[in-house]
Amino acid sequence: MSEAMTRRRPKESSAASAEPAPPLAILFELSHRCPLQCPYCSNPLALERARGELDTAAWMRVLDEANDLGVLQVHFSGGEPTVRKDLEDLVAHAARLGLYTNLITSGVLIDRARLERLAEAGLDHLQLSIQDSDPAEADRIGGYTGGHERKMALAAWVEEIGLALTVNAPVHRHNLERLEDIIELALSLGAGRLEVAHVQYYGWGLKNRAALLPTRAQLERATKIVEAARERLKGTMVFDYVVPDYYARRPKACMGGWARQFINVTPSGQVMPCHAAETIPGLDFDNVKDRPLSEIWRESQAFTRFRGTAWMPEPCQSCDQREIDWGGCRCQALAIAGDAAATDPACARSSDHEALLALAEAESHAPAPAFAYRRFSAAD
Ligand code: SF4
Ligand code: FES
Repeated sequence: MSEAMTRRRPKESSAASAEPAPPLAILFELSHRCPLQCPYCSNPLALERARGELDTAAWMRVLDEANDLGVLQVHFSGGEPTVRKDLEDLVAHAARLGLYTNLITSGVLIDRARLERLAEAGLDHLQLSIQDSDPAEADRIGGYTGGHERKMALAAWVEEIGLALTVNAPVHRHNLERLEDIIELALSLGAGRLEVAHVQYYGWGLKNRAALLPTRAQLERATKIVEAARERLKGTMVFDYVVPDYYARRPKACMGGWARQFINVTPSGQVMPCHAAETIPGLDFDNVKDRPLSEIWRESQAFTRFRGTAWMPEPCQSCDQREIDWGGCRCQALAIAGDAAATDPACARSSDHEALLALAEAESHAPAPAFAYRRFSAAD
């Protein structure tokens, strides 16, 4: 999404600065409703019902506040954002403000007329998720019969209408053997960018980790395929490659660093530094209904808790990588080490690293259990 970086931004603040630089992007989880049931969905296990969602006026106000704060990009996501009838109005308002607009969609609910309306409203970019290159497998993984066919139709309309397209392909042990076909499929759909994203183990992905985690050999094969395709398709299709931390030696700078670049707003208006932050005990999340976004970004407890480097334990505190990876992922530290303030176990310097590797080896070689599909529970 670097094409969005056209507006002048204030200088980056230092890690220790009291005044953080403005966020690059805001992600609106407009709704948790979704016709698909992907077992690696990044939404929380406790999904928000429609009655809890912000109304149109509230989302419009958050767009104004995000723009005033200096945000450049707005990602309309979910769940499935097209379940919201006001999506065109929100896109139009964001476009009027000069924000770069991206729609992150499963693609199964949009017909051509609606896509045209969204393009007319000013949509810049569409990110289409695919589950597999094989239609039957894709529908099985997404838990939605006929979904793959609808996605293919949507991609064709995107090309005809002239919108920029990214294909997002979450990969895991059920589809990695078809990675070459997935790349060919994205190419045939006219994608300018393909995100080959190994599933990240938070939310539903964590719940389904034993069913999804690839072996180290599968990961290494996938990396070779992506590297070769990236070289071969230079100038035609750009690759983003997200690896699973479980086999890494250094963690990723999750979200570009806690509260450094991104804001996530849940369907009910809670403001979070990442989509999984709700799992962390002891964080207080403000709501856009109660507090201006700029104040939340600058001084809310959840955003300041792990911003910068002061919170870091050793060995991070004296590590030369600390302003590169910003200590990795807090949600992963919680999920694996049981402490969100611990060194990310993906780091070889963490005392939990060997245990993480052992877990990955054991789980990825065991028979895969059945998926726990993402569904609203009967009690919700
Ligand atoms: Fe990153 Fe901490 Fe590991 Fe250093 S010790 S590489 S800062 S996670
Ligand atoms: Fe929450 Fe990485 S997903 S910090």
